[in-house]
This record gives sequence, C-alpha cells and structure tokens, in this order.
Amino acid sequence: MKSEFQHLIDLSDYPVSWWQNVVELGEEIKNNPEKFAHECDGKIMATLFYEPSTRTQMSFQTAMIRLGGQIIGFDNPANSSVAKGETIKDTTKIVSSYADILVIRHPIAGAAKAASLTADCSVINAGDGGHLHPTQTLTDLLTLKIEKKTLSGLTIGMCGDLLNGRTVHSLCKALSMFDNNFIFISTKELGMPAYIKDIIKANGSRFEEVNTLEEAMGRLDVLYMTRIQQERFASEEEYLAQKNTYVLDRKKMKLAKKDMIVMHPLPRVDEIAVDVDDDSRAMYFTQAKYGVFVRMALIMTMLKEKKSSVTLKGKVYGKVKCDNPKCITNHEAHLPKSFITCGDETLLECEYCDERKLI
Ligand code: NCD
Repeated sequence: MKSEFQHLIDLSDYPVSWWQNVVELGEEIKNNPEKFAHECDGKIMATLFYEPSTRTQMSFQTAMIRLGGQIIGFDNPANSSVAKGETIKDTTKIVSSYADILVIRHPIAGAAKAASLTADCSVINAGDGGHLHPTQTLTDLLTLKIEKKTLSGLTIGMCGDLLNGRTVHSLCKALSMFDNNFIFISTKELGMPAYIKDIIKANGSRFEEVNTLEEAMGRLDVLYMTRIQQERFASEEEYLAQKNTYVLDRKKMKLAKKDMIVMHPLPRVDEIAVDVDDDSRAMYFTQAKYGVFVRMALIMTMLKEKKSSVTLKGKVYGKVKCDNPKCITNHEAHLPKSFITCGDETLLECEYCDERKLI
C-alpha cells in the first residue's frame, strides 16, 4: 500500500532536525503571530475526532483559522456516516478529497497510520488509542524549550498512567534522543511499556522506576503528570483500584526544586490539586496555550512539504495477526498485517500499534 503524501503519524518517522524546525517555527509564531496570518489562505483542514477532545481539536482549529485557512470535520462520529458503519478507509478517502490536510483522533491504536495509507492528502495523528500523540509532544517540546531553555540533560519525572497514556509514550521517544534521565512514577500495573523502555536505552538516555512521587520529587527538573486513562480500562473495578494513587499537592511541591516545572497534557481529573495552580512552577495552562503556535507551525510545514511516497516498512508474515484487540488491523480487515522484526526474526512488532509477539 502506497501513499503519495507526507504524514505525521509518529515523530520518529522524521529526523530530529525536522521536529526542531517545527518547534523553532512555533516559537517564532508565538513571538510574532500576525506575520503568519495569511500563510494558509484558501486551504482547508479536516478534523475527524472519533474520541472526545478539547485542547487538541480546538487548538488545531484555532491554528488553521489564525493562518487564514478554513476548517471542516466532525467531533462526534455518531453524527457522521461512521454511525452507518463506514470504515476509516472510506471516510478518510472521501474527506481527504475535500481537504488539504486531515487531522484524525481515534480510540484504536494504528488508526492514523491506516488512514494515511489511503488518504489523498496529508494526515496528522492527533492521538491513536493508548499508543501515540505526536502533536502533544511537539507542544511539550516547545514548552520545554521556552520554559527550561533546553531539551537535554534534564531529569524528567513522568507520573500516573504510563501504560495507557499516549502522551508519555510519544514524549519519551522524542526526549530520549536528547540525552535525558527519566524517572517513571507509577503503580506496577500502569508502568511504561517495554518497547518504550527499549527505545530509551537504544537512544542513549536512562530511566528508573519508582512507586511514589516523594521518592523522585527533589531530583526533578520537570514533573509530567498524567490522568489515569479510565476509558482504556477493561472494567470499572480495575480503574477504581488505580484512581487517586498519585495526587500532586502543595505539600509535595515543597519537596521540589525551585525551578522545577509541572506539566500535564490535560484534562486533569484529580491528580493535581487545584491549589497547585497558583504555584509559579505550574506550567500546564501555559503548555496548552503553546499548543496553538506549534500546531500552526506544523500545519505550515506539512502543507509546504513536497509530496513523497510513503509505504509500510515491514513485512506480512503469512497469516500472522496482531494480538492486540485494540489494534486497527483487528478492526479493518483490508489492512496488510505488517510487522517489523526486533532483533531476530522470532520477535515481531506490529507496524501499526507496536504490540510485540513471538513466532
Ligand atoms: C491527552 C490525550 O488525549 O491523550 N489530552 C490531550 O490531548 N491534551 C491526555 C489525556 O486525555 O489524558
């Protein structure tokens, strides 16, 4: 399967210099937004949101409008032909013939990649299940660049649902390229997936795992809090057992360095007490604001990019299927079940959702 357009499914599809250029352009836009007001005159962006969203969807829409472009799309698939059983393949095929750029959020891992295989315009992944969220990472990189003045040599604590949180997966993959130290703060049930830990090591960064915020607090330059991802749990009981485990409050903030910053992709449920909001180190609302500038930069970059042919990189192994029930290949039958080998040919990684299996 071949697509003739440039997509953003995972930041690791691009060299680090590419993301740095997007982040730098985002900073330039922040400092002088008027200069970019007509960059996308006459262009249309479609936002297909199969899952709830406030910041990602509205910041993308704001970004396109501020660039002079227009928007179409849905934020509730129940109001589209999805409710009649239309596949992602058909929906994206049609909508991509109306728009110049398509932004998709979907509850199933690998959905954006699947959309990119048949779309007739560029596709941006705005979150695919518990898998990846590359545009949140661009937002986070811009926040770090502005607020910490560096992307490297940092000690970054990531706390909460590290198993299902797509924001921390994408962010670890990116920040591990810049020689950083990670401290993962989670319960053993919600720890960082093995494939992300392998990437961190392969990229030359380091991680350790702890169970409490107190163990890490004093060492951190950045604390990245996350919500327990209720919608990804198999049962209410499993969610309730994890809820409220980590709550950042003023007392814990006293243990932190004076220049540590607190980030959170938002929405927050109860993992950050509201009285932390007044602390000058709380950066999450500013972070959400920066999301508009970096998405303006991303839209401009994607629309300027020359077309290039993108294909699946892996191989189909006969009848071998992905074992992840939340992988798009188990929902849209037409997709080639493509795998990439890890090490030897007996360990395969699904090219859509990164789930591993031994054959
Ligand atoms: C995150 C998401 O959707 O993954 N939110 C966002 O995009 N800013 C985080 C979350 O929902 O917990």
